[in-house]
Amino acid sequence: MLQAIKYSEGNLEILDQLQLPFVETYIPIRTTEDGWHAIKDMKVRGAPAIAIVAMLSLASELLAPDNEVLQQTPEEVHQYISAKLDYLVTSRPTAVNLSDAARKLEKRVSNRAKEVPGPLGREVADTFIQSAVAMLGNDLEDNQRIGHNGAEWIASYAAKPGQAQVAVLTHCNTGSLATSGYGTALGVVRSLASKNKLRHAYCTETRPYNQGSRLTAFELVHDKIPATLITDSMAAALLADTDKGVNAIVVGADRVAANGDTANKIGTYALAVLAKHHGVKFLVAAPRTTIDLDTKSGNDIIIEQRPASEVTSIKGPRDGPEGTGNVSIETVKIAAPGINVWNPAFDITPSALIDGIVTEVGVMEKGVDGQYHLDGLFDEPTLS
Ligand code: MRU
Repeated sequence: MLQAIKYSEGNLEILDQLQLPFVETYIPIRTTEDGWHAIKDMKVRGAPAIAIVAMLSLASELLAPDNEVLQQTPEEVHQYISAKLDYLVTSRPTAVNLSDAARKLEKRVSNRAKEVPGPLGREVADTFIQSAVAMLGNDLEDNQRIGHNGAEWIASYAAKPGQAQVAVLTHCNTGSLATSGYGTALGVVRSLASKNKLRHAYCTETRPYNQGSRLTAFELVHDKIPATLITDSMAAALLADTDKGVNAIVVGADRVAANGDTANKIGTYALAVLAKHHGVKFLVAAPRTTIDLDTKSGNDIIIEQRPASEVTSIKGPRDGPEGTGNVSIETVKIAAPGINVWNPAFDITPSALIDGIVTEVGVMEKGVDGQYHLDGLFDEPTLS
């Protein structure tokens, strides 16, 4: 399985996603500054992955041989961790997983520092490090459950009568590269494929950052899943094509508000509108750590604005005969100089357009009142 994040005893490495799919290279993340920049510059991206890398960057910093904070008092260690977490959450604002992880781990560390009899400063740091490391394994397990739950739902509710295999469309990258492994929406695709229930997967290019053509396509080829890449503007034509017969669109999420409104990669909203028009099921797949009950609706979600250069230029190696070995990444301008640019990284899909929210504990659909009751996901009731 592709591994975007490697961690062992204070040594964190991430697969540099700016170089993919042309060069596979791991870069060390030794400090919270390294982690912050890797997230901001999108060397690592995807809601679960940025939360995990942020926390593990702090774990690595704490374990650095020259870091003397471990010799300090429990409260000093707590304050150090708390300040670093405040800094890390400023790297990217939309995905709630990062601030959710920071809040939970801060609370755990704060409680540990207050214990009687008092622990050593080192033991307070260990509480943080163990929790950060646990995120890697927990996220992988959650994703495998999300994949299974989503695949079963699609096979039951999106397949036509008697249809054994379905076609699905996905957007952005929500796979092993966006998580600790397997993925969320792409985990659903993987699960369908592993159950022999997938006829074909389609992935969008996902302009302007091309997470679809660079990363999702890379994962689909890697796993030998039958798949086709389209540009974002081809989605309507794809859904209208009855021979291709797309049964469902499944996407990830950066933040799901309490009413089910979902922030995800720019272009998601357009796909949801298309799905409604064509009678295609539209699913959001995300761990419960992406659900933010404190945010009432999509209106309250901050949408990250990215640099104009991501729209006015594209990056990649120079095209040419294969095997030239020339893989240095170049930037090519593609827009008229002087044009204004709007580059929101995410959009909000209203809950009314979402048929189900796939989590590790099941798939939640709207209630008889036509509303999502996502708080029910946190007491693990009977879900489909
Ligand atoms: O800007 P990105 O690449 O971090 O955006 C990623 C997405 O929008 C994903 O769909 C989302 O984070 C879920 S990843 C499992």
